[in-house]
Amino acid sequence: MNYLQDFNWRYATKRMNGKPVPADQLNNILEATRLAPSSLGLQPFDVLVIQDPELRANLSPAIYNQPQVTEGSALLVFAAWKNVAPGQIDQYLENIASTRNIPLESLNDFRKMIEGSITTRTDEQVHQWAARQAYIALGYATAAASFEKVDSTPMEGFNAAAVNEVLGLDGKGLSAVAVLALGYRDEENDHLANAPKVRRPASSFFTVYKGS
Ligand SMILES: Cc1cc2nc3c(=O)[nH]c(=O)nc-3n(C[C@H](O)[C@H](O)[C@H](O)COP(=O)(O)O)c2cc1C
Repeated sequence: MNYLQDFNWRYATKRMNGKPVPADQLNNILEATRLAPSSLGLQPFDVLVIQDPELRANLSPAIYNQPQVTEGSALLVFAAWKNVAPGQIDQYLENIASTRNIPLESLNDFRKMIEGSITTRTDEQVHQWAARQAYIALGYATAAASFEKVDSTPMEGFNAAAVNEVLGLDGKGLSAVAVLALGYRDEENDHLANAPKVRRPASSFFTVYKGS
């Protein structure tokens, strides 16, 4: 049950103390992020790992100067694909074929299924679908950070157009949908550092159907 203790320990940290997250811990968090499940397995988003303090300072106004951006040690920007290009489907199928050592042609039906689910949606619907996949990975990253005893703040309080502009995402078919600051809590200056967790009671949150 240690993971429940970790989930109670973590909180959306408002102030961080600038201490660097060691590379092996950051890599574990990134690997957990990469291992998150996604619809069709397509992983239709990129994750930008921004350690560079200067770039984080440049991004800060686009993230409404939330202090964690510059007081943290790394910033993960989850950038969802704005659409899925045929080449991206090809790459995915080639990855499956080579990883599992199976003929590419054996994936023809799966290819049709993927193409069908993309072409029947508008670009905006595809982007929103991609964003939902990115959010699952955001959850994995947040959970993994707590296992590593690294503090984190998931954020959607930012101006996506401004973040895209600073990072040049538009030209890459990407748009920022969520951000995760990673670092260590500044207990003295963070008014929420020792605040009890607020959640809906289980009795109203869950509706349980036990069966007979
Ligand atoms: C998708 C998402 C976006 C959030 N955006 C922000 C944000 O921009 N700034 C911030 O300080 N906290 C942000 N939060 C943190 C939430 O306010 C916080 O998770 C919630 O109040 C529950 O508190 P806890 O995470 O500390 O337990 C965000 C959380 C999520 C999941």
